[in-house]
Amino acid sequence: MNDFGPQPSPLPDIRYVSTDPLDSALVTDEESAAANRAWWDSDAAAYHREHATYLGTDSPVGEFHWCPEMLHERDVRLLGDVRSANVLEIGCGSAPCARWLAADGVGFITAFDLSRRMLDRGRTRGDSDHGVALVQADAMNLPYKDASFDVAFSAFGAIPFVSDSAGLMREVARVLVPGGRFVFAVNHPMRWIFPDDPGEDGLTAYISYFDRSGYVERDPDTREVTYAEQHRTIGDRIRELVGAGFILDDLIEPEWPDDLAENWGQWSPLRGRLFPGTAIFVAHLRG
Ligand SMILES: C[S@@+](CC[C@H](N)C(=O)[O-])C[C@H]1O[C@@H](n2cnc3c(N)ncnc32)[C@H](O)[C@@H]1O
Repeated sequence: MNDFGPQPSPLPDIRYVSTDPLDSALVTDEESAAANRAWWDSDAAAYHREHATYLGTDSPVGEFHWCPEMLHERDVRLLGDVRSANVLEIGCGSAPCARWLAADGVGFITAFDLSRRMLDRGRTRGDSDHGVALVQADAMNLPYKDASFDVAFSAFGAIPFVSDSAGLMREVARVLVPGGRFVFAVNHPMRWIFPDDPGEDGLTAYISYFDRSGYVERDPDTREVTYAEQHRTIGDRIRELVGAGFILDDLIEPEWPDDLAENWGQWSPLRGRLFPGTAIFVAHLRG
């Protein structure tokens, strides 16, 4: 699984990837949304405690790290100049990135997430949205008109969790203006082949990179989906973007900084020195 901070409880040490078609292939986006909404609701408090620095949990203006390699928007400006742009954040959690942008200077920004509890963490100070219009919504059904935004972005939100990620790319294309920019960070697809372990055990490949059956947890009694996450290869991601009408401008694989000693879930200096942990796709919609 993604291991982007939260881990389903109880999470096995070694990731379980189902070979049972009932577990993965038949997981619909509705099932994924229901499961992930409940899961992120239940994990919101622990997630923000555990990753307080990264998320700017104690700051009303959040933080905009793209990934556990600590790439910061201030330094890379992957979104370009947004001072007069309409910007959308996808699967924003408590919207630390959107709040940071609002404080830094943005034309208009709105951000949405499935999980009410994650969104609430962005409002804890004085019940205000800190200049960001926060919305509870499912990425598969964006509540926005066509061509509403100049820029859309996501830092590990929504995209890894939906079954129909090609459909999500089309939904983002729909709400962007022609030429609009789309930037998203996800787990680097090659991490899929390793267990989610920051140590030596996380260096042995044991799952096929080409196995798209996904990671699914079900309630052992009811068989209800309780957590779902999907895998796409690099080629799949590019194909889905291009299929939705995007042109890929860059694919960034942030390197582990020499002075970063902290683990971040399965991200660690040990693994980061050897192979990438994050892939950031930078694209724009055909004009
Ligand atoms: C790892 S967090 C990323 C959020 C934020 N960038 C952060 O770093 O905390 C993943 C977020 O994706 C949201 N999510 C999952 N599936 C979603 C969907 N279908 N639509 C909208 N949000 C979704 C979850 O609720 C969760 O808040």
